[in-house]
Amino acid sequence: MLYSLVKPLLFAVDAELAHDVSLEMLQQFHRLLPSRRIDKPVRVMGLDFPNPVGLAAGLDKNGDYLDGLARLGFGFIEAGSVTPYAQPGNPQPRVFRLRGAHSLINRMGFNNKGADYLVERARASRDFRLGINIGKNAGTPLARALDDYRAGFEKVYPVADYIAINVSSPNTPGLRDLQNEGALENLLAGLDQTRRRLEDEQGYRRPLALKLSPDLDGAAIPAIAGLLHRYRVDALIATNTTLARDSVAGQRHAEQSGGLSGVALRERARLLLTEFYRELGNDIPIISVGGIDSAEEARWRFDAGARLIQLYTGLIYRGPGLINAIIRSI
Ligand code: FNR
Repeated sequence: MLYSLVKPLLFAVDAELAHDVSLEMLQQFHRLLPSRRIDKPVRVMGLDFPNPVGLAAGLDKNGDYLDGLARLGFGFIEAGSVTPYAQPGNPQPRVFRLRGAHSLINRMGFNNKGADYLVERARASRDFRLGINIGKNAGTPLARALDDYRAGFEKVYPVADYIAINVSSPNTPGLRDLQNEGALENLLAGLDQTRRRLEDEQGYRRPLALKLSPDLDGAAIPAIAGLLHRYRVDALIATNTTLARDSVAGQRHAEQSGGLSGVALRERARLLLTEFYRELGNDIPIISVGGIDSAEEARWRFDAGARLIQLYTGLIYRGPGLINAIIRSI
């Protein structure tokens, strides 16, 4: 209700500015809001989640707005992507609305304040689950990507409920090549080593989730599923944004470079969920994300095998009421 009043104002200004202003307002005033969370507990990756609806990575990259966002009703929030060191990302403008398609194109390029900053923000106690999504710095050569993921993993290990490995952003040149079988095996094997050492040292284990691109070649799916098993990956997040433009051809801004999200991504996100569920069954849980903007669409994902879902673009177009509309319908 309130969102429908504010939305025309937000949509009248640049998308990134609207994002920053609304999050600042939410964080400033969240104590005045009653918590809107509806609990429908689920256990996934060995963790108890208050409900299965989460915020996807990228909205709160630095953990600056966690309390306010939690008030909206999410069962979990994935902060990040963060990189080992702070970086500015790409020049603005770098987010574009494709209104007719309820979609966005972004080429943020991992603008973030660095993993150490987020870790400080994440130390406070909380009553929701916090995932932290890690990426590599733009200046780190691809051949040394594992060093960045290891550094990020070690930094966030003490404060994250789960750690998501992002090898699927289209806005860091070459990053998605890490999904090729050889490179992915190298990355997961390396992280598995780091993880075993941290488990021994710290005496606790953190679930690891891998976030993939919807532009993967379907033929690669069985091999990736094999790697997830071999290196004890705890969940798959499907999917990140797409480079494809077939679903928005001819629309204003469709020619902008970057990753497409929202309704225009839905078919691909559904397909990846279905194909991975066929390989993984109930052995490795899938977190479905991409184009979810209604209770019906959320139901489709759960019915297709998703154990958790995440929202981003749907939240921008439909407003925070979407979260509880979905949870009530479960
Ligand atoms: C994203 N997304 C994203 N994903 C990620 O793993 N790390 C990131 O830093 C970001 N940043 C980001 C910024 C912006 C502006 C958008 C719109 C998206 C991708 C996001 O988490 C999600 O996977 C996709 O947007 C698909 O879901 P929706 O938006 O269709 O619900």
